[in-house]
Amino acid sequence: MSYDVHAIRKEFPILHQQIHGRPLVYLDNAATAHKPLAVIQAITDFYTKDNANVHRGVHTLSQRSTDAMEAVRTAVCAHINAREVAEIIFTRGITDSINTVAFGMGALLQPHQNVVITALEHHSNIVPWQMLCERTGAALRYIPMNDKGELDLSTLEVLVDENTAMVAFNHISNALGTINPVKTILSRAKAVGAWTLVDGAQSGPHALVDVQDWDVDFFTLSSHKMYGPTGLGVLYGKRERLELLPPYQGGGEMIATVTMEKSTYADIPHKFEAGTPHIEGIIGFGAALDYINTVGVDAIAAHEAALLDYATTTLSTIDGFRIIGTAENKASVISFLVEGTHPYDLGVLLDQQGVAVRTGQHCTQPIMDQFCIAGTARASFAMYNTFEEIDLFKAALERAVTMLR
Ligand code: ALA
Repeated sequence: MSYDVHAIRKEFPILHQQIHGRPLVYLDNAATAHKPLAVIQAITDFYTKDNANVHRGVHTLSQRSTDAMEAVRTAVCAHINAREVAEIIFTRGITDSINTVAFGMGALLQPHQNVVITALEHHSNIVPWQMLCERTGAALRYIPMNDKGELDLSTLEVLVDENTAMVAFNHISNALGTINPVKTILSRAKAVGAWTLVDGAQSGPHALVDVQDWDVDFFTLSSHKMYGPTGLGVLYGKRERLELLPPYQGGGEMIATVTMEKSTYADIPHKFEAGTPHIEGIIGFGAALDYINTVGVDAIAAHEAALLDYATTTLSTIDGFRIIGTAENKASVISFLVEGTHPYDLGVLLDQQGVAVRTGQHCTQPIMDQFCIAGTARASFAMYNTFEEIDLFKAALERAVTMLR
């Protein structure tokens, strides 16, 4: 069956509006994606029919809420092919997932050890490791990147050594769109016995990941980038790793026993889920996963790859247009500058014409520093974007550039 983008767009009510008198062209999907009716309906249904706290009540509403939430845990387990449902932890987002692991490793890391990340990371995969290394005295090392925005793997054997405790990196760069060679990096990490974490913030909506095939220790997903609600993430961890990590937060639901002197902790996943979870978010995320799987991750990826090719070719004809991040293997993100203009001004003038792009550092200041730029404008595509929208974007960008020069 051919990819019916117009049928898909009908499922996203937010897209059908005018901004400053022009049709909305939403190209900020790497920041957050919009929600299909199935997600909105699932949340409405939850509050209309089932709302209750989970794992806490014998009453029917609580049992229904618990069953609905746990069904999503099972769906996530299947989606990423985890070994068992207990390896799926619900968090507040990828930042929370990475902090959970980095905090827990504080109890395990020795000062002579090191943590390896890359020059291509989002701040959420830099700062928690900096904090961990400051606390423990361990060293933080970076796999460098070249001028195309690709990792320089010639350094891998030296940087990842027998003292490396963790290698943490993203699957796809949010700022440049680079798709990283996950298996090559994981293979080196495993050869020295290091733990591994892959940040799937940008790959969740665009690629199917099999955590057993990768044999990765930790993997994280963000609901809101996968057409689900904000404030929710997933932390996958291998059971044997999660059992070694102390919990990041204490509170209700994460305990086995509490006395005035001491507490013991629940088994995974609950050990890492203190407090009332984001129940409606989890239920909405379940609907988003179903929706993605119905459209088909491969079909979505193929559509986005075609959009990326078309946009790269068509935008490159604009005088002074320069793409930052030209890796051979790229996802549907175009970070760009136009000579003689400031990205912020471009963003404002594009918005005046109905086109939403992100401007700035994209939470990746070290990447911007390496390119010696203050920031970029960034267009990022999702399953519902069209070739016509790219034409509208190009025309709007040309008008903006004319006004600014
Ligand atoms: N990390 C998100 C982005 O790239 C917010 O825009």
